[in-house]
Amino acid sequence: MIFLKSKKEIEIMNRANKIVLKVLDVLEESIKPGMKTKELDEISEEITIKEGGIPAFKNYHGYPASLCVSVNDEVVHGIPSEKKLKEGDIVSLDFGVLYQGYYGDAARTCPVGKIAEEDKKLISVTKESLSLGIKEAREGAKVSDISTAVQNYVEKNGFSVVRDYVGHGIGKNLHEEPQVPNFFAEKPTYPIKCGMVLAIEPMVNAGKSDVVVEKDGWTVRTKDGKKSAHFEYSVAVTENGPVILGVSDL
Ligand code: MF3
Ligand code: CO
Repeated sequence: MIFLKSKKEIEIMNRANKIVLKVLDVLEESIKPGMKTKELDEISEEITIKEGGIPAFKNYHGYPASLCVSVNDEVVHGIPSEKKLKEGDIVSLDFGVLYQGYYGDAARTCPVGKIAEEDKKLISVTKESLSLGIKEAREGAKVSDISTAVQNYVEKNGFSVVRDYVGHGIGKNLHEEPQVPNFFAEKPTYPIKCGMVLAIEPMVNAGKSDVVVEKDGWTVRTKDGKKSAHFEYSVAVTENGPVILGVSDL
């Protein structure tokens, strides 16, 4: 079932996402070679609690941390650890907050120090594919229009979209209907309606789209060992078009 949100609910979700984006901003600034990925997790918790939110991922289906930190060929759901970041890595940060009964969810991939040109391109193509997907999130379009916009742009640039993980509706639950794939699927088709809030999240691989899950049961990696990037925003569909939550006051 798809839950459409009222203006008031979207306002609360905007505040939830403000906390998420604040956390991501601080983490992005803190990233340095030599830093343990666990330190990023600690910072994310500290800020969230100070801002009156609750880290959403902790214990979600047993996930053991607040933040997902996925380095290089890790696609999503990397568990923060003693592992240190090093110059030239790319690191995907994915964070969610529960605030006044509603969820916020966003992600971005950041460079660690100086990175290779091809990795810069992977990051910028993934980021741009999210922007193109978001533009389709308006009443009258279909969810598959978002998928097609993301997929076409990514493939035109020689990269591939991950198929095993998808974007999602978000609200009183972290994951709600509809699913928002990053590739075109004929069925099911959902018409986009005002009041929908969608977490759109392209996961883009430099090589092939195949992924594997590690023995820890969480960390998703590319099968071919090439790098992967991930960007996500929670987006509300309004009468005035798509609104990226957490960016400005509503
Ligand atoms: N952030 C993921 C998403 O965008 C969800 C992470 S779930 C967790 O849907 F279990 F890993 F926390
Ligand atoms: Co998400």
